[in-house]
Amino acid sequence: MIDYNVPGGKLNRGLSVIDSYLLLKEGSEVTEDEFFLACVLGWCVEWFQACALLLDDIMDDSHTRRDQICWYRRPEVGLRGINDGILLKCHIARLIKKHFREKPYYIDISELWNEIALQTSLGQMLDLISTHNGADDLGKYSIEGYRRIVKYKTSYYSFYLPVACALLLSGAKLENFNGLRDILIEMGIYFQAQDDYLDCFADPNTIGKIGTDIEDHKCSWLIVQALGHADRNQIEVLHNYYGKKDSASVSKVKSTYSSLDLKDIFSQFEDRAYKHLVSSIEAQHDRAVQEILKSFLKRIHRRKK
Ligand code: IPE
Ligand code: MN
Ligand code: MN
Repeated sequence: MIDYNVPGGKLNRGLSVIDSYLLLKEGSEVTEDEFFLACVLGWCVEWFQACALLLDDIMDDSHTRRDQICWYRRPEVGLRGINDGILLKCHIARLIKKHFREKPYYIDISELWNEIALQTSLGQMLDLISTHNGADDLGKYSIEGYRRIVKYKTSYYSFYLPVACALLLSGAKLENFNGLRDILIEMGIYFQAQDDYLDCFADPNTIGKIGTDIEDHKCSWLIVQALGHADRNQIEVLHNYYGKKDSASVSKVKSTYSSLDLKDIFSQFEDRAYKHLVSSIEAQHDRAVQEILKSFLKRIHRRKK
């Protein structure tokens, strides 16, 4: 189960714990033991991701993930996979206890993980409630609502968590880094908008998963933009066909997206978001903080998978 669900991703989140830690320690020596601990936390983030994705695929009725069939879709697994997701998560607390219980920041790091797990679940809850409300009335989707869902379901665990782990490991207090946290959350929103774009427009062979956002009636970046740009007839098409499982309905939504030039609107959004992030990074005073943020941004800018 672990071999099936943990490897196979890009490892961006796990590696960014180590990258961030090395940047924070720049100038002073990193011992082998310290490097090892950074790797433990990096893998914990990857285990968290495996848990989140395994359960997310059940919630989203997904088919494939990382170029293979979703774990819960294997005939010998099914909904019993829920317990596998819980197991993956329980092991994080054990790993942290095993390696960090004697550290002065043990309580801080345990609380961090509890808090992030809660925020991620709350984000998933908002995501799931929104599909329900949206099915009732598509007009309930807004960019503010979108940003709230995505901040919780994606930004905290994918962007803030790796850096917060590195900060605690380097002896820092998290409350002194609220500016850094806010920029990471903003980057997470940009990252999820890309994920939503790729869900519809990327080749499943490139992203390793088949998109389901239209079928699932998700409050995706694309539908929010489409509703903001559509005329009366196009709105009616979206109302009639969004959230339907059959491929003819999905095609109608996709062709409405095309006639609205959503690809173009997205690429303008990407440019704006990128420039905004660059200027907020430049406004940061701490050099290590700037470097951490720059390396995150470089990794995700105009990503194609
Ligand atoms: C889910 O977002 C974020 C998680 C907490 C896992 P999505 O539902 O858009 O993720 P994908 O597209 O299935 O990977
Ligand atoms: Mn999903
Ligand atoms: Mn997605």
